[in-house]
Amino acid sequence: MRVAVTGGLGRIGRAVVAELGGHGYETVRIDVSPMRGQSGGYRRADLRELWQAVDALDGVDAVVHLAATGVPDSHTLHPELAEGATYTANTASTYNVFQAAAVHNIRRVVWASSETVLGPPFQVAGPSCLPLDERHPLCPETSYALSKAAGEAAARHFAHRYAMTLVALRFSVVMDQAEYAALPEYWAEPERGRWNLWSYVDLADVAVSCRLALAAPVDGALALTVAAPDTLSNRTTAELLDTFCRGVRVTRSLGAFESLQCSAKARALLGGCPARSWRDSGV
Ligand SMILES: NC(=O)c1ccc[n+]([C@@H]2O[C@H](COP(=O)([O-])OP(=O)(O)OC[C@H]3O[C@@H](n4cnc5c(N)ncnc54)[C@H](O)[C@@H]3O)[C@@H](O)[C@H]2O)c1
Repeated sequence: MRVAVTGGLGRIGRAVVAELGGHGYETVRIDVSPMRGQSGGYRRADLRELWQAVDALDGVDAVVHLAATGVPDSHTLHPELAEGATYTANTASTYNVFQAAAVHNIRRVVWASSETVLGPPFQVAGPSCLPLDERHPLCPETSYALSKAAGEAAARHFAHRYAMTLVALRFSVVMDQAEYAALPEYWAEPERGRWNLWSYVDLADVAVSCRLALAAPVDGALALTVAAPDTLSNRTTAELLDTFCRGVRVTRSLGAFESLQCSAKARALLGGCPARSWRDSGV
């Protein structure tokens, strides 16, 4: 099976290409950045252009769509222009990838949405209830988050119109072993993690979730929270709730360090993934 990985030269893209390659998939990296050295398995494309997306997806069986522009730097001179550019680029690229997949009759697209569609960084309003899961209303507070919510609406459209399956993985902040080493600094200022409820997901689980979502027995457009089972904090979840989330309705009892972003639906559909924790990393 030949899988196009858009954003294949990025941080998650490289991990996904390695994960798929290790499980017998052939991959084609699609990226606007030039690839140095070998050019096999790589096609250069700016996905903001539909014709480039259509060219790039020729001859593939499935797509993992990761290409995107992240949250603009908050110190930028004209933040509203940077936010607009992020929204426009991500919305166009995601629409174009879905449309190009429909043109080529590609039946499955797995793509990177974001935890931010449910409200992080919670600067305008806090969560309606906790833990967050797929039943929480969409509350994008940034143009980046809005671009992901727009992508989810586009996915529902393409699933409805072309009977495609599009799996949105709402990744939490992606972290790896090197970053876990810095956690003691993070613990010194526990309020720093409130913006996304002290949540994260391990890079290896992100790659595995993309692979498993390519073959999961699902139809239509669906969106899944993909976060580690625990928080990044060294304080208990009860203490975090009591100190930083007073007044927010908590809908069920939670484990000592259980995440406030619930990935139970993803785990049920993706064979237990995500499951990795920084607590197993020796920090
Ligand atoms: N890293 C995280 O913590 C995180 C969390 C949630 C969601 N996500 C999402 O996961 C995806 C991958 O994130 P990442 O951390 O690997 O980002 P990254 O910035 O490392 O990689 C993104 C890649 O996309 C490419 N790209 C950007 N615009 C493009 C375009 N118009 N056409 C073709 N290629 C383009 C870039 O060149 C880059 O190689 C993104 O959609 C991101 O929004 C990331």
